[in-house]
Amino acid sequence: MSTQNTAPAEARTETRIAQHRHYLMCRPEHFTVSYTINPWMEPANPTDTARAVAQWQTLYDTYLSLGHEVELIDPIEGLPDMVYTANGGFVIDNVAYGARFRFAERAAEGPAFMRWFAENGFDVAEPVEVNEGEGDFLLVGDTILAGSGFRSTDHSHREVGDVFGKDVVSLKLVDPRFYHLDTALSVLDPVEGPGGVERANIAYLPGAFDAAGQAILAERYPDAIRVDDADGAVFGLNSASDGYNVLISPRAKGFEAQLRERGYNPVLIDLSELLLGGGGIKCCTLELRR
Ligand code: ARG
Repeated sequence: MSTQNTAPAEARTETRIAQHRHYLMCRPEHFTVSYTINPWMEPANPTDTARAVAQWQTLYDTYLSLGHEVELIDPIEGLPDMVYTANGGFVIDNVAYGARFRFAERAAEGPAFMRWFAENGFDVAEPVEVNEGEGDFLLVGDTILAGSGFRSTDHSHREVGDVFGKDVVSLKLVDPRFYHLDTALSVLDPVEGPGGVERANIAYLPGAFDAAGQAILAERYPDAIRVDDADGAVFGLNSASDGYNVLISPRAKGFEAQLRERGYNPVLIDLSELLLGGGGIKCCTLELRR
């Protein structure tokens, strides 16, 4: 599917093309907050599982209506964070690098996702190092941006580079609210053309990175959208783009305007209930690159 953007010409800097995406999601049937492994999680605050499922369903339905393909992994009782499938692995060219979770509460998810990958025709690369999948590894063009500081280790950055034979750029996260790379940085393209990747832009929250990381991002992505703190604080960057449609939180007003200015089409999806677990749109979405 390929949708031309319909933004008025004066608001359009470049033509955006929606590319087909293939995702893995997990219905939050067992979602709750019963432990704390990030600053958003407050077990004392009540959660509403039915509401979580309904909000998640809207995200799922939106992907389908945009023409994307979504596969589902069965939720497992006792693993309330399994809805955040981005952490289940990192998949490029049909190879699934498995996750090895930092905290015991999520440890059993690693093998569960690897079983799903194997049963669904992916080659599984079992991890030795602690890493939380696409939560901390993002493919931008042909480069892997890798987060460390709270979850995935620097050793896993080397391991992921070896598995995929790609350059890895390590970025240190410094704000505990933005403990996974995908909470602080969003991949807006890539747009592939006949000659390979033609454009690979990102949006990010500068303050989530240390000074070295900020310098690397500024140098590599001079055209990046820099999101302000207010939009970062509502998980605006935890978003999913197909190159034209960018699914974001309805609370990220400034980011929404920045996207429009650049000719993207922001699609607002409210996952407030899943934010109680410290996750948003991207956390609930793992890209399956066959
Ligand atoms: N409660 C989960 C955790 O702390 C949320 C994971 C969010 N996932 C993500 N890709 N950022 O591990």
